[in-house]
Amino acid sequence: MLTVGFIGWRGMVGSVLLQRMQEEGDFRDIDPYFFSTSQVGGEGPAAVLAAGDAGSHGTVRKSRPLGDAYDLAALRALDCIVTCQGGDYTGEVYRALRNDGWRGFWIDAASTLRMESDAILLLDPVNRDHIERGIAAGIRTFVGANCTVSLMLMAIGGLFREGLVEWVSSMTYQAASGAGAAVMEEVMRQHEVLAGISSRHLSERGGALAAESAMRVAVTESTFPTTQIGVPLSFNVLPFIDKMVEGGRSREEWKGQVEANKILGTTTIVPVDGICVRVGALRSHSQGLTIKLRRPVSLDEATELIASSNEWVRVIPNEKGETLRALTPMAVSGSLQIAIGRIHHLTMGPEYLGAFTVGDQLLWGAAEPLRRFLRMVVAR
Ligand code: HSE
Repeated sequence: MLTVGFIGWRGMVGSVLLQRMQEEGDFRDIDPYFFSTSQVGGEGPAAVLAAGDAGSHGTVRKSRPLGDAYDLAALRALDCIVTCQGGDYTGEVYRALRNDGWRGFWIDAASTLRMESDAILLLDPVNRDHIERGIAAGIRTFVGANCTVSLMLMAIGGLFREGLVEWVSSMTYQAASGAGAAVMEEVMRQHEVLAGISSRHLSERGGALAAESAMRVAVTESTFPTTQIGVPLSFNVLPFIDKMVEGGRSREEWKGQVEANKILGTTTIVPVDGICVRVGALRSHSQGLTIKLRRPVSLDEATELIASSNEWVRVIPNEKGETLRALTPMAVSGSLQIAIGRIHHLTMGPEYLGAFTVGDQLLWGAAEPLRRFLRMVVAR
């Protein structure tokens, strides 16, 4: 049975990964080892292993204490390592293991290794052939892609598959979860403070304006929770994610083109650019897309191609009621659905398509491609 080490399984992406593996019964087919960077010797994820998914090895696994995530000898003994621990951990451990001759599968959620020439980005509904060819060719480093990129390619993969996309501009509305659990918690704390203010004013006449101006004062006070984000995200939008790179682009915006093209394996770069914005949504990223097609495409054909992208795409009719009911972060969060709607030709011409897409950032944007790849490794 494949031995698989899990690192960073307690974090947000790691927890969602374990939950999905449990739902799909994936633990039955692997021999899991859990590691920790801070609680070596502690107990593993009892909920997962006690749930009857651990097969005949269940009791053995339950009693196995947490390994040291920096113990290279223990890691070297594994067939496969799945890490959701983050880029610093990858930077510290990955090279040391490879330099030591370890040839196991390294499956990573962090961005550190994404652009390495010997690493393949995981998004099997879009690039399964490439992943399979990579495994056969001896590639052993597989990395989950940027969530926004993955969710965009899941939504309009059918148009790319037909070679129809000349370029795409994505204006994003990225959820707090993309910045980590601490940011998600902080935006909820910010909401709490501001909700306290609104509850004091809303019973008054003209209460909305009074509450709004009191909130503007509250966010400048030193007690307002901004340790993580630095500024209010609650009732706000933040048009900068990550750090500045070249050309006036943020790193999040830069990833759009390089990662999308790497996943698609393009020989001629398809430009992908836009402005990435953090909003107060919790775990689903939304994107407004402008797609320049290589030829005029009818709305029916475009919609059919989009719907055929993969089995998770759900085309929402371009109509107000359905859009507001089904094409929002609240409607999509917690599901594997990739919702796409507002599909229509833009006034620029029949080669310009507008669309809006929403997907759960923690599922298809992070944990699910890793989980599915692990299944591919098990099935080899
Ligand atoms: N970089 C993304 C974000 C997270 O900040 O939302 C997932 O790739």
